Amino acid sequence: LAFGFQPWRARVIARRQTGSRMRVSEAFEKIRPAPVDSINAMRLSLEAQGRKVLNFGQAIPDLSPPPAALEALRARMEDRSAHVYTADQGLPELREELARSLQARFGGRACGAGRIIVTAGANHAFLITCMTLLEPGDQVGLLSPYFLNHDMIVRACGATPVELALPGEGNEITCKEVDRLIDRHRLRMVVMVNPSNPSGKVLSGQEIANIHRACRQRGAVLVADEVYRMFVAAPQAFHSAARLAEDDPSDNIIVIGSFSKEFGMSGWRVGWLQCPSRLLEQLMKAQDLSIICAPHAAQELALLSMRAAPDHALSKKEEYQSRRMLVLERLQRSGLFQINTGEGAFFIWFRPLKDVDSETVCLDLMARSGVCIMPGAFFGRPWRSWFRLSYGNARIEDLAAGTEGMVGYFGAESQRAEVRPTR
Ligand SMILES: Cc1ncc(COP(=O)(O)O)c(C=O)c1O
Repeated sequence: LAFGFQPWRARVIARRQTGSRMRVSEAFEKIRPAPVDSINAMRLSLEAQGRKVLNFGQAIPDLSPPPAALEALRARMEDRSAHVYTADQGLPELREELARSLQARFGGRACGAGRIIVTAGANHAFLITCMTLLEPGDQVGLLSPYFLNHDMIVRACGATPVELALPGEGNEITCKEVDRLIDRHRLRMVVMVNPSNPSGKVLSGQEIANIHRACRQRGAVLVADEVYRMFVAAPQAFHSAARLAEDDPSDNIIVIGSFSKEFGMSGWRVGWLQCPSRLLEQLMKAQDLSIICAPHAAQELALLSMRAAPDHALSKKEEYQSRRMLVLERLQRSGLFQINTGEGAFFIWFRPLKDVDSETVCLDLMARSGVCIMPGAFFGRPWRSWFRLSYGNARIEDLAAGTEGMVGYFGAESQRAEVRPTR
């Protein structure tokens, strides 16, 4: 006051202080915003202009929860007790149902309701796993191509994702190779998505055993995201990592699942994880501080759905096979693509023969041909020229038209003398 009150100076100081209080953590600064936003923004803008966009971008099935379960949920919601918190770990009946199905259907060895936590979706299950197990600076191996949210969550916890290249098509993942990677990168955790998003690859029982053995030898945790387990052309080809989990002190497996895909419940936000008993208490801290419990109504619907129609996802099997064959056949016939699609999930994973920048091409393809697919660049460094088409939520006529549009677009591109530079 001795120098007089200078409002502009007060404002500058206040702004600086606010700025420093709003500083974003270094870990978050390093996370790239979900790139899917740019694709969706363009799709919405084209649709707002009245353009029809065939959307094969979303990794969701065209399933709704079983009608009988929805009907029963209405009655259940009349009861006041259905509107309050559940136990933090989740409804006991739901955990029992999940444990029973892991054991009876997926060959889980050491399943018990006590080892299951019901979460707000599979991403939340992975988040609480990483919050509980990772230290800043830890390295986490993601089998490549990886699921982008896994990369983001690992970074959010201050750890560093390491992309683990798999052997080429037809070559088995060996224990020796995984062991070498764990040792080389000092991996604290290895994450696999089986069946894979984006490639649909289904790991063999031997490969899972090899990865598990290497993790166990080196003291690394194995996280198995199995959210697409019900979408496998030959269900016997799917091997859950739960088969290898034993309830002894050396158990190092966390299995993650979800109701989002199996029961068409992505908006309800309910998933689960199975963990070694000794981790339960620690994981429950992350569960409690982040959400207390998964949404109660969503848990009720999950339970009712499992009871009413445990095979709900299988109702899509034939339809999905037709969609898959239609796209594969047309892309193969064009001779324009390399296709590397596995037998699981509901994706076609492919690339044109020339190198391209898949993010730029996706936007250009959408603008010119009205077809929305996802760039391989979202799934790891080696995949810049690759694309993921999801037929989970696509009508067969739209797939026929969209595939034709893609063949036309890439055919015209291949005629161009100039090859787009790869970033
Ligand atoms: C491999 C994988 N894990 C997890 C999720 C997210 O599942 P949820 O909706 O249960 O969080 C997805 C969604 O696309 C996914 O593809």
